[in-house]
Amino acid sequence: MRVLLLGSGGREHALAWKMAKSSQLDQLFIAPGNAGTRNHGTNVALKPTDFEGIKTFVLENNVNMVVVGPEDPLVAGIYDFFVADAELMKVPVIGPSKAAAQLEGSKDFAKEFMMRHNIPTAKYATFTKDTLEKGYKFLESMKAPYVLKADGLAAGKGVLILETLDEAKKELKSMLADAKFGDASSRVVIEQFLKGIEMSAFVITDGDSYKTLPEAKDYKRIGENDKGLNTGGMGAVSPVPFADATFKDKIENQIIIPTVKGLKAEGLVYKGFIFFGIINVKGEPYVIEYNCRMGDPETEVVIPRLKSDLLDLFEGVASNTLSERDIQFDERSATTVMMVSGGYPEEYETGKVIYGLNSVKDSLVFHAGTSADGPAIMSAGGRVLAVTSYGKNIENALLRSYGTIENIEFEKAYFRKDIGFDVV
Ligand code: AMP
Ligand code: GLY
Repeated sequence: MRVLLLGSGGREHALAWKMAKSSQLDQLFIAPGNAGTRNHGTNVALKPTDFEGIKTFVLENNVNMVVVGPEDPLVAGIYDFFVADAELMKVPVIGPSKAAAQLEGSKDFAKEFMMRHNIPTAKYATFTKDTLEKGYKFLESMKAPYVLKADGLAAGKGVLILETLDEAKKELKSMLADAKFGDASSRVVIEQFLKGIEMSAFVITDGDSYKTLPEAKDYKRIGENDKGLNTGGMGAVSPVPFADATFKDKIENQIIIPTVKGLKAEGLVYKGFIFFGIINVKGEPYVIEYNCRMGDPETEVVIPRLKSDLLDLFEGVASNTLSERDIQFDERSATTVMMVSGGYPEEYETGKVIYGLNSVKDSLVFHAGTSADGPAIMSAGGRVLAVTSYGKNIENALLRSYGTIENIEFEKAYFRKDIGFDVV
């Protein structure tokens, strides 16, 4: 197979690393990729949302499968773009259709979908500029803290959790009337606050059947003890100790099965990964959010724990034969610790030379934001490297990741020293 993978983060490096192991792979292209993905294929200077550019590249290079890493091209309809084009329709896209990608692209759509299919989630109501006064009334009927969510994609910044009613009203107004998140906050979901511990569950589906991947827990805050600003994710562990067999059965029966069946029943074409952001409230799972792609940095621990051939699974998705494919997992634990640029998630500098990568023995280093200048590798993003390790348990894997980090350096590098603190 000749595969084009879209994206440039740690998630895409992990997917490229895994696909490169497949005997079914003839050539892998990554658009745009990073200095790490170069080791597993050919980087191509194309934006994942440049559909016309992608079309030209796919046709000129006889690409016969497109794997989509990030949400933007999916929410913008890359699946439908391929299906609607006479020259591209035979090239399968691994990802949901535009309509189904609304599970991530619109919080209101996701909530309505969950209501229709009885999937456990926080109580909510949705408001627009015209119903701002009703929004205030709704807030008055709720208890603190208040959860406000911009309906559309807002680069991970669209969820606000406010302690007082005054702040909540002010933010609601700023989102609806003053377009705080642009078009993304022209609708706002106000939601009941759920108290519990979060984790991420993943499946891959061909629209009929699905396979469950290992679960993971990510660490979103910049500071230790989960303090400070939200980031794209500072580390992850898999498996998740509190997700025992009983809890995972509940996730499967109350959330995964109704989601996959609901998508099919509503004619929402879905051929890719579904990410379930789950919160455990006193032993009961609730959906906090859906994403229409894999998580990052969760992929950097989930994919290393997949023993089976990933391309074989994608091939099963493309040909609607996923149920016939085998899926096996590594029993070991996996952890990843993100090394980020000093200052991230606020302003940070890039272009710092990274030292020590060649000496890594006990870990897999997935590049999240890097570029290459000859043999030198430099930081090129907020999140720079995801240092993944296996271990007989999470503690053991973490020791390896932290041991590896001691030998990797770049100016002003920062990482959290407490990944996994709440589960070990
Ligand atoms: P999201 O972008 O939907 O993942 O939300 C970002 C974060 O906000 C989540 O990971 C949770 O930590 C938090 N969050 C979202 N919704 C709720 C809720 N209903 N109750 C408590 N925390 C929430
Ligand atoms: N790590 C959370 C996400 O990928 O959205």
